[in-house]
Amino acid sequence: MKEYVPGRAHVDDTPELERWYAELAGRDMGALWTVANTIEPWHPKPPSVPVLWRWRDTRPAVMRALDLVKPEQAGRRVVMLVNPGGRPISAACGLLYTGVQVMGPGEGASAHRHMASALRFIMEGSGAYTVVDGERIDLEARDFVLTPNGTWHDHNVDESGSVCIWQDGLDIPLVNALDANFYAVHPNLRQMPSRPVDASFSLYGAGFLQPAALRRGWNKPHSPLLKYPFEETYAALRRASNAGAESPFDGVLMEYVNPLTGGPVMPTIGASMQFLRPGEHTRAHRHTGSFIYQVAKGSGFSVIAGQRFDWTEQDIFCVPSWAPHEHANASATEDACLFCFSDLPVMRALSLYHEEEWVENGGYQVVAEHAA
Ligand SMILES: [Fe+2]
Ligand SMILES: [Fe+2]
Repeated sequence: MKEYVPGRAHVDDTPELERWYAELAGRDMGALWTVANTIEPWHPKPPSVPVLWRWRDTRPAVMRALDLVKPEQAGRRVVMLVNPGGRPISAACGLLYTGVQVMGPGEGASAHRHMASALRFIMEGSGAYTVVDGERIDLEARDFVLTPNGTWHDHNVDESGSVCIWQDGLDIPLVNALDANFYAVHPNLRQMPSRPVDASFSLYGAGFLQPAALRRGWNKPHSPLLKYPFEETYAALRRASNAGAESPFDGVLMEYVNPLTGGPVMPTIGASMQFLRPGEHTRAHRHTGSFIYQVAKGSGFSVIAGQRFDWTEQDIFCVPSWAPHEHANASATEDACLFCFSDLPVMRALSLYHEEEWVENGGYQVVAEHAA
């Protein structure tokens, strides 16, 4: 791609150059100026595009998987959500993967661990639990749960439970892009819980910390709190909304954090819950980072890269890096909540976070420039 602009590559082809390019290719070399404008765009040009996966389409597909395969054969019975631009790397957006997993009463997925970090956001059913490094975590609708990289984890539904469905979010494409992925199956296939049920929530979930817990220290890179129940999250958002804490671009947005550090829940994946008051319509902005949303409550629409997507509960949609976006709660009486996970911790750790806001009659103006 030639750009006839000062400072950009625009070498015109000649038969002599073309012969030389072929010679270079034969020696595993190339001329930078033939690709420079493509590999160094003026701004991010993600292959991922905005997509809305409607629950009314996703749920029947997931229920069909329940009939067709057993978890013992599939490992994990999941319908992946695949971005048209992310198909070769099984990405839902950027370098993030997401899928919807279903499990019937009495079923379980064998214990395993991997270098990809994982989270789940529970969608429906009762009796589901995840065991993370020996801790059983009971799961209810709209709970947010971590299975950090390197931790042994398995997922199960009690015999007395119902069909359970949840969204998985992982950074598999990122870890693969860095050629750093490992996968292991637990030698016993199922873990024997070795800690009290929901121990991490009991210890770290109340917003208070025992001095002893602080003294003992925590040397893992992820949050010691593994479950963030929706009830607590929603109550915190409502309180913050009443207190007037809000952003013109996000409404009231709370990040799920590591209670010991205030940092992200995992080194590579951050997550948040966003609260849009009745009738609220946020201002447009654009920034780096890939974002996958699930509508936890309410209905409304988002305008992403100029396209309107109308969403309702349990729909999943994505905002690719640098796509301008704004969100609106369509109800005049009910609030709306958007769960979201993203690669923001990576953007911040690598000083790649860049944000611009839309200013009427002024266009996009820089808010944060390649910041940490
Ligand atoms: Fe896993
Ligand atoms: Fe945003």
